[in-house]
Amino acid sequence: MYKRVRAHHLRLMKTQRTPITMLTAYDALTARIFDAAGTDMLLVGDSYGNVMLNYGSTVPVCLEEMVTATRSVAGAVTRAFVVADLPFGSYEESPALAVRSAVKLIKAGAAAVKLEGGRRQQDKIAAVTAAGIPVVAHIGFTPQSENALGGPRVQGRGEEAERLYADALAVQEAGAVAVVLELVPSPVAAQITSRLEIPTIGIGAGNQCDGQVLVWSDMAGMTDRVPSFVKIFGEVGKALLAAAKDYNEAVRSRAFPDENHSFQK
Ligand code: KIV
Repeated sequence: MYKRVRAHHLRLMKTQRTPITMLTAYDALTARIFDAAGTDMLLVGDSYGNVMLNYGSTVPVCLEEMVTATRSVAGAVTRAFVVADLPFGSYEESPALAVRSAVKLIKAGAAAVKLEGGRRQQDKIAAVTAAGIPVVAHIGFTPQSENALGGPRVQGRGEEAERLYADALAVQEAGAVAVVLELVPSPVAAQITSRLEIPTIGIGAGNQCDGQVLVWSDMAGMTDRVPSFVKIFGEVGKALLAAAKDYNEAVRSRAFPDENHSFQK
């Protein structure tokens, strides 16, 4: 276990075949818990928009919102490698814009940034990397392009597999330190993983990737519906509901606060 996970450890973990664990986090409260649990990477994902801001998608999330969430997460972490998402609209236009936006996330405490797209983002990945900022790429289903992709659909089936591999190779050549593969058939993700030098982090991409990422609120049972590739590892939502109900009942019955939880003098 590294004392502090850094960019170069990710490639080492791939060569040593040590699976990399990654969870999303959007605030200090959860970041502290996931860091204490030994999670290698924390992703301040733009899923912040769906999960915390109730936006319905990642598309409306803006850079200022990501900066606030990143500051909160990064300030709470002692070990995990913190990656912050560049939100939609903060990098597509030009390499210069990508660098400007990435610098804001790094100043907020991120150790790396993530952006979506393969070959079409090569120039942005190269420019951000040249600015001294590690980049995690994201290919397969890319939620910021959900309107163009027709919603969350598996990518890289059949003849598309070679195109997906070309994307993976392009981001590696541009300098990415890792690549997220989202909604990719397991055999295709396994092939890409074995052909790349940089680690792959899968989400809905089978167990042969070098690491795995999940949206924390999905894996902790905070939501009613989760995608079919998600496993629920804890019923935190149900525990919180029970705690809030107990609290309400105790207040209404005046059982709380009792004498142990109030000042007599
Ligand atoms: O924003 C996010 O949560 C992500 C994961 C789906 C990888 O990008």
